[in-house]
Amino acid sequence: MNSVLVASNRGPVSFTLSEDGVLTMRRGGGGLVSGLADVAGEIDLLWVCAALSDGDRSAVRLAPGGRLDQAGYDTGALRMLDIPPAVFHRAYNAVANSTLWFVNHMLYNTPQVPHFDIRFRREWGSYRDYNAAFALALAEEAGPGARVLVQDYHLTLTPSMLRGERPDVRIAHFSHTPWAPPEYFSLLPEDVGAEVLSGILGADHAGFLTERWASAFMDCCEAVLGARVDRAARTVTHEGRTTRIGVHALGVDGDKLWARACEPDVESHMAALRERIGDAKLVVRIDRTELSKNIVRGLAAYREFLATHPEWHGRVVHLAFAYPSRHDLPEYREYTAAVQRSAQEIEDEYATEDWDPLILNVQDDYPRSLAAYRLADVLLVNPIRDGMNLVAKEGPVLSPRSALVLSREAGAAAELGRDALLVNPYDVSGTAEAIHQALIMPEKERIERGERLRAAATALPPTAWFAEQLAALTS
Ligand code: G6P
Repeated sequence: MNSVLVASNRGPVSFTLSEDGVLTMRRGGGGLVSGLADVAGEIDLLWVCAALSDGDRSAVRLAPGGRLDQAGYDTGALRMLDIPPAVFHRAYNAVANSTLWFVNHMLYNTPQVPHFDIRFRREWGSYRDYNAAFALALAEEAGPGARVLVQDYHLTLTPSMLRGERPDVRIAHFSHTPWAPPEYFSLLPEDVGAEVLSGILGADHAGFLTERWASAFMDCCEAVLGARVDRAARTVTHEGRTTRIGVHALGVDGDKLWARACEPDVESHMAALRERIGDAKLVVRIDRTELSKNIVRGLAAYREFLATHPEWHGRVVHLAFAYPSRHDLPEYREYTAAVQRSAQEIEDEYATEDWDPLILNVQDDYPRSLAAYRLADVLLVNPIRDGMNLVAKEGPVLSPRSALVLSREAGAAAELGRDALLVNPYDVSGTAEAIHQALIMPEKERIERGERLRAAATALPPTAWFAEQLAALTS
């Protein structure tokens, strides 16, 4: 039994099984994993996650009770849940990623989707089963009075389910995405929306990345559940229980990130990139190819910038990293193809014998993207809507003299908005002009803004963010 438990769909490691039956473990990235690695030695921690691949499932079957503590994994103890693949697929792809994620990001193309029919009801049933599997495992593993930190939109029902099983434990839920206002949230069937909200309200503490998402959540609780909301005290009372609402603006660990970005593999990518682009200015973007990242409009903005500012031809290169994501969903495959088409159009229109205006990278390559950050003159982060966007926070740490063009709809804009060039993500012309302004920003101004951006980006590194979650359950 453990006294601190973390639950998330994706765990800190993944396993692959080779043809000759050898299991290999790979540690994932992300703020939560690196934050926990720093504190794992000090707390009695268990991480509960889902087995996502055949390799993960093999690892679970080899481990008694799915506990992978002995598997060479060093960030506390780990338990992977082997959820039947069909249930997992409906819960993860159909409900979490195609429904709740779309609602939170307000991304539906409403004339065609969503479509809440009998099939959705089956998928919703699987989402419940998947959440129940987490609640059950947490109930089994939590020591008396343990603190349990449940992560994200995959696990909105787990807090109330766990509360039903184990009234003694203290539960926090954290949303890493935006939250939609009630007018949009209520496109979910009424009972489904109510179940999501009361599921999260099973927690003692519900955390969000910004004030804006926290207050949208409170508005939904009031409008959909008729819950009593005290905005000054930041509490929601529903069915006799009170949940505290917190804002914890996750940032980056500047020293750690900088140290990683100074390693030889990054330096050699820097040398290769420098050689390829010569002394041209560099506009960089780094995203997973998620529908919310607005990569196609970002490329359109770069194209319009080239059209309206021919003086830059031959003197600027756009380096765009667009890593494939969620290719099980057709919308994502189509989006990746659209990004590639847009890039090709720019090449066709502007490339010359000795100038490549755009380099698109669709292979996941962490050291190469760190090298790009370090060389950037401009970092473009223009999501339609984003919980936080850590790229906007990593940039100022790694390239103190680059200018940041940032969507006003990214959570990070709340902290970085004063020193970034803020854009409306739908306004392609406005974004094109911001790219130009960023390129011509005087050196002194870039450095001054960069210093303030860096301070804001590193204000709450993952370890401190995690400590805040735990502290919220102690009081
Ligand atoms: C997006 C969301 C995060 C979420 C993540 C999961 O980035 O904004 O809140 O945790 O996706 O990604 P995955 O690859 O595990 O589906």
